[in-house]
Amino acid sequence: MTETPTVPGSADYWDHRYVSIGDTKVSWFQDEPAIGIELIGQVADHNASVVDVGGGASRLVDHLLSAGFRDLTVVDLSQEALNAAYHRVGEAPVAWVVSDVRDWQPDRTFDVWHDRAAYHFLTDAVDQQAYWQLVRDSVPHGGHVVIATFAEDGPEQCSGLPIRRYSAAELEQAMGEGFTVLDTRREQHITPTGGTQSFGWLLAQRT
Ligand SMILES: C[S@@+](CC[C@H](N)C(=O)[O-])C[C@H]1O[C@@H](n2cnc3c(N)ncnc32)[C@H](O)[C@@H]1O
Repeated sequence: MTETPTVPGSADYWDHRYVSIGDTKVSWFQDEPAIGIELIGQVADHNASVVDVGGGASRLVDHLLSAGFRDLTVVDLSQEALNAAYHRVGEAPVAWVVSDVRDWQPDRTFDVWHDRAAYHFLTDAVDQQAYWQLVRDSVPHGGHVVIATFAEDGPEQCSGLPIRRYSAAELEQAMGEGFTVLDTRREQHITPTGGTQSFGWLLAQRT
């Protein structure tokens, strides 16, 4: 890992955030990712395959393992983030994939696609459209998407990087064809330093 990452948003940049701040001190840390767990639980049981895109060192995987899920994949740019999660859960039925989601070409499909605060870093329209095409290709009809971004009244940056904020309607529009929205949520996330960040969540079915 480089001492001073030069390219904002690069793998080095994210590695540096996780190592220099600590995975439980980063602004997005949640000990219990309650809304993600609840929305996944609405549509899937422990037999489902779940991918957490931009999952980083999130505790979602720990909770899903405890609930009996046995087909889990976590994709992230940051090797350091995945190392932290791997060392926490130990040998477990989890595929850890170090990749930029923009380059990732999964050779399988998933019943549930989960993304909390990764998609919103895609500020380029071409990247956004490619992301939703990847979801369409990776989630079969009948499968589900659980996604959270900063809401329209949320911060304009995340982890020092520009992001795109979405209302529920804007996120539904961004998804494009092939999804039916089943539920939406708002969340006031409390950061480890006591700040508040407004998130919007969306649960959709691939149709
Ligand atoms: C704000 S954090 C959220 C992490 C996790 N989802 C959570 O809720 O704890 C954003 C994560 O997305 C990852 N990330 C950012 N851009 C990415 C990209 N283009 N492809 C894959 N991962 C990315 C970062 O490394 C980081 O782990």
